[in-house]
Formats: sequence, C-alpha cells, structure tokens
Amino acid sequence: MVVTDNIDQIRQKRWQDPTVSWGLVPTMGALHDGHLALVKKARMENERVAASIFVNPTQFAAGEDLSTYPRPLERDLAMLDAAGVDLVFTPTADIMYPAGFQSKVEVTRLSRFLEGASRPAHFAGVTLIVCKLFNIFQPTRAYFGQKDAQQTVILNRMVQDLNLNLELVICPTQRASDGLALSSRNQYLSPAERAAATVLNQALQTAAKLIKEGETRGDTIRRTMGELISGEPLARIDYVSAADLNTLEELDTLKGDVLLSLAVFFGQTRLIDNVMMYDI
Ligand code: PAJ
Repeated sequence: MVVTDNIDQIRQKRWQDPTVSWGLVPTMGALHDGHLALVKKARMENERVAASIFVNPTQFAAGEDLSTYPRPLERDLAMLDAAGVDLVFTPTADIMYPAGFQSKVEVTRLSRFLEGASRPAHFAGVTLIVCKLFNIFQPTRAYFGQKDAQQTVILNRMVQDLNLNLELVICPTQRASDGLALSSRNQYLSPAERAAATVLNQALQTAAKLIKEGETRGDTIRRTMGELISGEPLARIDYVSAADLNTLEELDTLKGDVLLSLAVFFGQTRLIDNVMMYDI
C-alpha cells in the first residue's frame, strides 16, 4: 500500500494504466467498520482502491471539534492495508489549502436544510474538499455512507450539476449490535451516554414502523420521535425531521421517498442518524 501526501504521485499512480478502474473512499480517519464497509464494496467493484484521510478544516465551524477530532493515523493505515487498499492520500491542510486559496464549491439550496441549518458552512466545506479529491483522483467510482444522508444527497447534486465523470455509490449504515450507528464521534461518549444513545435508532425504527402501518402525518412522526428521545434525560435534541428525500424539505404529508433524520446532543457530543423510506 502506497501512502503519500503528494498529488503528483497520486496522478501518476492513477494514470499508469488508464484502463484500470479505481474506487475512492474519502474519510477523515478514526476508522471503524462503517468506513471499512465502504472499502470492502470498493474492493469488490474496482481493480484498484484508494482512500483519503484528511480532517478537513473548512467543514468545521469555530467551536466544533476540529482540534480534538481523533487522529490515530498508524492504526488507520494498518486497517486500510489489511482491507486491501492500494493507495492512501494523507495531505496536510497546507497541501489542500495553500496560501492564496480562495475558490468555492457550493450546492446552495440543499445545503441549508437539516445539518446545514445547525452548521451553516459545513456542506460548503464538504463539497469543496470532495470536489478537490475527485479532481485529484479522477476515480471511476466514489463510496459514501448513508449514515451522512444529506451529504450523499448534496454530493449527488454536485456530480450532476458539475458534470463530474464518476459514479457515486451509497452504502448502508453500519451499526453496533444495539443499533447505534457507528461513528468516529461515538468514542467521545461516556458509558452512560453511550447506553442512552441507543434511543436514536429506537426512535427512527418506531417512526418507520408507524409509517409502514399507514401513518402519513409528518407532524405525528416528528412528535413521536421527539417524545421518545426527550424521554432519555441525557439526550438534547437539535432536530428531528421527516423530509422529502430529494428536496430535503419538511413534509406535512409523507409521500414518495422520505428521509427520517435527527441530530441529538449527548453532553458535548452531537450524533446524527437516519432512515430512508421509499415509495410511501
Ligand atoms: P467521515 O465522517 O470520516 O466518513 C467517511 C465516510 O464514511 C462517509 O461517506 C460516511 O458517510 C461513511 N460512514 C461513516 N459512518 C458510517 C457508518 N456507520 N456506516 C456506513 N458508512 C459510514 O464524511 C466524512 O468523513 C467527510 O465529510 C468527507 C466526505 C470525508 C469529506 O471531508
């Protein structure tokens, strides 16, 4: 496995044989089985697999966890090597954003809802870095997790809007045995918060069941999720949502493809999770 922070070296590897397919898995490191599921799928679908590890400063707001975000680089590299990755890009902030940098890549409307309402500059940072990574690697396919549902909707829009020549592959959310979605941020949780956090998936599953039984009122679904989570004293709700999966707008009446999603604080730690429901 080649590990490099050199963009020319990435390009040289990528274009050594232009007929070879490449899968790219962008990450911020602190890897877990969710990331590895993306690598595994990329491994199955491409002749070569690349990953990036970069804690991207432009997607963090002041006061968020940029400085404390876990960075276990040696462990991450060992995991990627064992998973059969060929090439890992580990740039510094100076390499990605050198002096004089001033360009933007933004998907304007979709970036304002949900996560974007709580984190206004977040998705501009995500689309900027992912667009740069796509230009550096020019992968055949790129792999993202449904765990960050809005991120996948926005990146899909970016790929269409900017005519980017690659296929996005979205992989299902990997969960712990008690249902908590795997996240690099779970390690911030105290044991009591970790136990309490199982309420997130429970709330989503309860809402999904109600919808399957015929409930179509958006307010009822949001209230049900809100009440279940509020019953957990360690949880503080940022938002609960039942939105259109394509426009991300809140729905009065659920129909078509629906995204149930939520963001909840446990202490200082903010966790997100979601369920997608199709053809309601
Ligand atoms: P990061 O949070 O490291 O996640 C990297 C990829 O792993 C994302 O596509 C994310 O959705 C996926 N992932 C995380 N937890 C998952 C889980 N439990 N199951 C399945 N997939 C999961 O998302 C980012 O980094 C950044 O925004 C990035 C795209 C790298 C741009 O900086």
